[in-house]
Amino acid sequence: MLALVTGASSGIGRDIAREIAKRKYDVIIVARNEKALQELKEELEREYKVKVYIKIIDLTGRDNCIKLYNEVKAEFKDIDVLVNNAGLGTCGRFTDTSLEKEEQIINTNITALHILMKLFLKDMSKRNKGYIMNVASIAGFMPGPLMATYYASKAYVIRLTQAVQKELKFQKSNVKVSVLCPGPVKTNFQKVADVKFNSPETESSVVARKAVAKMFNGRKITFTSWYISLVRVFAKILPDSFMAFCCYFVQKRKI
Ligand SMILES: NC(=O)c1ccc[n+]([C@@H]2O[C@H](COP(=O)([O-])OP(=O)(O)OC[C@H]3O[C@@H](n4cnc5c(N)ncnc54)[C@H](OP(=O)(O)O)[C@@H]3O)[C@@H](O)[C@H]2O)c1
Repeated sequence: MLALVTGASSGIGRDIAREIAKRKYDVIIVARNEKALQELKEELEREYKVKVYIKIIDLTGRDNCIKLYNEVKAEFKDIDVLVNNAGLGTCGRFTDTSLEKEEQIINTNITALHILMKLFLKDMSKRNKGYIMNVASIAGFMPGPLMATYYASKAYVIRLTQAVQKELKFQKSNVKVSVLCPGPVKTNFQKVADVKFNSPETESSVVARKAVAKMFNGRKITFTSWYISLVRVFAKILPDSFMAFCCYFVQKRKI
């Protein structure tokens, strides 16, 4: 059994790779930070006696995503689990934030996830088995002033996953596609996004444990705590403009 986890060099992705290795899956770990991936490989091979393969890839490039898929096909033929976790954010007024960084966000959070999901899902569908987990965020359920691109990117991930789930259901497919929607988690995310969370942060190990268990149980959407599920309920019943108003002040305090 073989799993592929993107963004496995730190945070949630690293802990998801640990959880999957614990279940005796071999793991392909993907990111740009070679040293961090090498350390994780050594840890997982030592602790769980599984095989770990490193792929140093910058997922912002479309061609890199396709190259990753082709390499995996050539070396391993099929994978059983895909975790599309790599992602980043940025904070600030839309007119002030860096276009270059936002393109990175769109390319990583949306385009890379879309390409990998499409290519691997086609194979899983033919075999009629497999699991895909897309990592979104509770942010994907509302407009996010001062973090507009990030919130919008996560809305894409949620809607894409939900639509494909329904297609698979009508096809009576056994492939399980799930979406993880965490609230604030203690990782490198804040540093990369230039924000400082002022609400309680969950440990990434706790998020990963729950996410992987729910994915294998066929859960469609996983929230990481009861209060994050509550935010989802508010986002559903309150007007978008009110959610955006609240969000503006929440984000303002983070900058
Ligand atoms: N932390 C939170 O509060 C939170 C909340 C909700 C959702 N999320 C989501 O959770 C996911 C993981 O984030 P995290 O919190 O664990 O943050 P993190 O510690 O910064 O991890 C991000 C991972 O993505 C990888 N990555 C980023 N850009 C990449 C690129 N161009 N090519 C390849 N890999 C890339 C990073 O690896 P390299 O830098 O080595 O390439 C790293 O392994 C993201 O999708 C994020 O949006 C996080």
